[in-house]
Amino acid sequence: MARVAIVTGGTRGIGKAVSLALQERGHTVVANYAGNDEKARAFTEETGIAAYKWDVGDHEATLDGCARVSEEVGPIDIVINNAGITRDGVLQRMSFDDWNDVMRINLGGCFNMAKATFAGMRERGWGRIVNIGSINGQAGQYGQVNYAAAKSGIHGFTKALAQEGAKYGVTVNAIAPGYIDTDMVSAVPAPVLEKIVAKIPVGRLGNAYEIARGCAFLCSENAGFVTGSTLSINGGQHMY
Ligand code: CAA
Repeated sequence: MARVAIVTGGTRGIGKAVSLALQERGHTVVANYAGNDEKARAFTEETGIAAYKWDVGDHEATLDGCARVSEEVGPIDIVINNAGITRDGVLQRMSFDDWNDVMRINLGGCFNMAKATFAGMRERGWGRIVNIGSINGQAGQYGQVNYAAAKSGIHGFTKALAQEGAKYGVTVNAIAPGYIDTDMVSAVPAPVLEKIVAKIPVGRLGNAYEIARGCAFLCSENAGFVTGSTLSINGGQHMY
């Protein structure tokens, strides 16, 4: 059945691949984005997917944005909380803003999106929320106390909300991507990245579509018994 799906940070990187994978499966997809108008315009031209601009870290803006999408496109049944930023640096050199921006956008964004959409899903008796966590939220990562804390928070958020959604047909799951070939990962200094890739048993970075396909499964009708789970897609880099 075709649903209205929204992908935050949905015009680039993993988000773009998820937007396309959900569109391929017949859903009406809306991509949210925060900054890059030019990329968003090019994305809409290329895919026909509408792009809506707001900062998911801003609570009011998220409530307004989702209300606009519901009015203009339809009730939102699928939410992919993908929007995320990095502000890497060792603790000693990390500012409060580096900490706060990452918490506000990466983790706060999940809360804001859920506040905007969960009640409607509950009322309609069907919903899918997929939160994009990270291997670095599971295992920690040197230079990422902010990002690891936010992503780890996403995994806890997922398990708690899954319990609240279960009896209403709303599933809440997480994906924990490893290192995927995106702009975010190419910002890691080359010598550091080389050492990381050397530790990936599959021997390469992941591809955004490898995350998107997992996400599409979690959003499918068939995945109704999967909730509160974390799907790790990381080339074997972290197993537990
Ligand atoms: N473990 C232990 N020590 C480490 C280390 C590690 N993983 N990485 C670096 N160090 C050590 C270095 O050996 C160096 O030690 P010495 O001073 O004794 O030589 C010291 O830490 C400083 O290292 P840098 O020169 O790299 O320090 P910097 O201040 O220039 O940079 C950093 C620090 C910003 C954290 C940089 O190392 C970095 O960018 N690391 C990558 C962080 C990372 O993996 N980010 C992931 C981004 S992608 C993402 O987040 C997506 C996802 O979900 C997977």
